[in-house]
Amino acid sequence: MHWLLISLILHLYFCLFPVARNQYERMGSDVTMQCGSLDNDASVSWKVNGTDVKAQHRLEGPRLILTQVDLSHNGLYSCFQNPHGERRDTIFLHIGIPPFELTVNCRSNTYPKGFYCNWHQQQPTYIPTTFEVDVQHNQRSLEVQKDSVHKNRCHVRFPEVFSSFPYKVNVTAVNPLGKYSTTISFEESTIVKPDPPERVTATPIRSNTRRLEVSWHSPATWPDIDSFPLKYFLRYRPLIREQWQHVELSDSTSHTITDAYAGKEYIIQVAAKDTEIGTWMSFFCLLIGFPETTTSPIPSSNAPQKAEPPVGRAARLLTFFSPLLLGMLLLFMW
Ligand SMILES: *[C@@H]1O[C@H](CO)[C@@H](O)[C@H](O)[C@H]1NC(C)=O
Ligand SMILES: *[C@@H]1O[C@H](CO)[C@@H](O)[C@H](O)[C@H]1NC(C)=O
Repeated sequence: MHWLLISLILHLYFCLFPVARNQYERMGSDVTMQCGSLDNDASVSWKVNGTDVKAQHRLEGPRLILTQVDLSHNGLYSCFQNPHGERRDTIFLHIGIPPFELTVNCRSNTYPKGFYCNWHQQQPTYIPTTFEVDVQHNQRSLEVQKDSVHKNRCHVRFPEVFSSFPYKVNVTAVNPLGKYSTTISFEESTIVKPDPPERVTATPIRSNTRRLEVSWHSPATWPDIDSFPLKYFLRYRPLIREQWQHVELSDSTSHTITDAYAGKEYIIQVAAKDTEIGTWMSFFCLLIGFPETTTSPIPSSNAPQKAEPPVGRAARLLTFFSPLLLGMLLLFMW
């Protein structure tokens, strides 16, 4: 009597709140869903999301067979035993694809402290996929720390500096349909890429119409500027011109442009690089309107006066407000 009651209550509970189980299937495959553990001769009817199954399907006793499934087959499937229509099973069908090759990139913007790696899937899997990261160096597994914000990022400390042993990063993507490992290998020196310089400003020099003083600060993320100095790459052009002027500077955080044209807007970009190793990363990008007249006209009439091509209204407006800095944007170019 006691057991009967419990079984009745359980039965009632599962009828009202069915515990759905998950079934993951590959896109494009034929899918068989089995109604509980009913015998082959059981007769059942199926519903998806509470309505009749409209997709192409076959019924084989307690089994529902869907052909060539795609994302539209996702849903909550329930089966009911005939003739009384008791619910016997509830299945959450998830259609996806197994993980495939990842794109993995590693970079050190905090040299010589450590580096981080990013990865992303080259194609979506549509179902939850997790990642395991293994980093090897000189036949040793290194400690890997997951990033607290970016889901697909991890951090690793350099076990030593100036190491000639390569690092091997193995990222394994795992989901219910399979797993796939992508491995990249690199040497320390190839991944050192500082962040762009900060607080870039350009100031016209009052006494000279063609001079712009550009200055900046080293990236705050770079941990030891004294032991690992940076060099800088500055390029600039008037907004209306295609061609850049380039300057490379060692260990200096300012530069005076001497060939600027008054009344033009300029794009100025500065990037940083370790003096010894690594590559340029991204530019800090500054847009500035260079004033038409920074000082009273220079009386030297000998200097040939260049006729300025007309500038657009927007440029005039920008010029009007200079020497204010008119806009700043950070461009991250991988
Ligand atoms: C069932 O409902 C889910 C969630 O609303 C929906 O994404 C899915 O397409 C539906 N499935 C079918 C077969 O109607
Ligand atoms: C990468 O890691 C996976 C999972 O730990 C492992 O099965 C695989 O052999 C590793 N691949 C390489 C090239 O080390």
